[in-house]
Amino acid sequence: PKSYPSNLIDKDWSKRKLYFKSPAKDFPDLVHDMEVRSDDVWIVTFPKCGTTWMQELLWLLINDCNFEAALSEHLEVRSPFLEFDFFINADSERALKPVTELQSPRLIKSHLSLALLPAQLWTKKPKLVYVFRNPKDAWVSSYYHGVNSGFNYGKTLDQFLNEYLEEKVQKQAPIAHASEFYQLRNEPWVYYTSFERMKSNLRSVIEDLCQFLNKTITEEQMQRMLKHLSFEEMKNNPKTNHLWEQAQIKHKDKDKEKHNFVRRGKVNGYKDELTPELIEKADCCLNAQLDEHGITLDEHL
Ligand code: A3P
Repeated sequence: PKSYPSNLIDKDWSKRKLYFKSPAKDFPDLVHDMEVRSDDVWIVTFPKCGTTWMQELLWLLINDCNFEAALSEHLEVRSPFLEFDFFINADSERALKPVTELQSPRLIKSHLSLALLPAQLWTKKPKLVYVFRNPKDAWVSSYYHGVNSGFNYGKTLDQFLNEYLEEKVQKQAPIAHASEFYQLRNEPWVYYTSFERMKSNLRSVIEDLCQFLNKTITEEQMQRMLKHLSFEEMKNNPKTNHLWEQAQIKHKDKDKEKHNFVRRGKVNGYKDELTPELIEKADCCLNAQLDEHGITLDEHL
């Protein structure tokens, strides 16, 4: 419905209905032409690569480690998801409002590919952070998120991934998406990292980002940040755990934990969820993509 409230108007996320329509026809143009501010920070990823984790980290750095503010407002409101409202809002002008009405410095989340992002990125050059993740883990995560959001009903993980890997655009998407940003990794306005690096040494990623964003934090703030960003804390934090989303879905599956948005947070978790045959099929597809782009998985992780 046209009257569907945008997330800035209706901050009660638990009332938010989840249903999707095709994005409005003017969506690509509106995004292409939107104003970018030089003090924006953009967090761009392929879905399920640790976006929320990095988003909370960046929000805290940009906002001088204001943990109280972070704990009192949903991350989705503090840092809007650029294209999300285009899928639920008939009025596309209105769909941009969470971003256009946000006070600077803005932290904007997007899963769009480079070509679909605003043209002004190239002139304003705001800081842009990209997080890569091993697509096999991202695909598994995506399956559970899909079940969680009302898609994938009745499908097993095997069925889901098999179908996914048959679909040309879908199966190419993670590497095609990442390789564009990877090419920009040495630009001073771009910071390229991975879920795997965040898992192995979050502290050093935070230190890098302090440098990237010209911020300094005390050791006490660093310690609090590491605790706040830990898997357990983010899982139990109602402002970051997306339980508002899960509350919409009546699970047939009794094991609700399995479908948490902050679910397992593991590196190589796919190994105990996918059959050897499916891992081989996924590897085959990924290797073809990596070869095509002349990159290796290792250099990304
Ligand atoms: P899993 O489903 O593999 O557990 P996104 O935010 O891009 O949708 O990514 C979600 C993934 O990031 C989920 O992966 C989720 O568990 C993981 N994640 C979120 N917060 C995390 C944290 N603090 N530590 C580790 N992983 C985290």
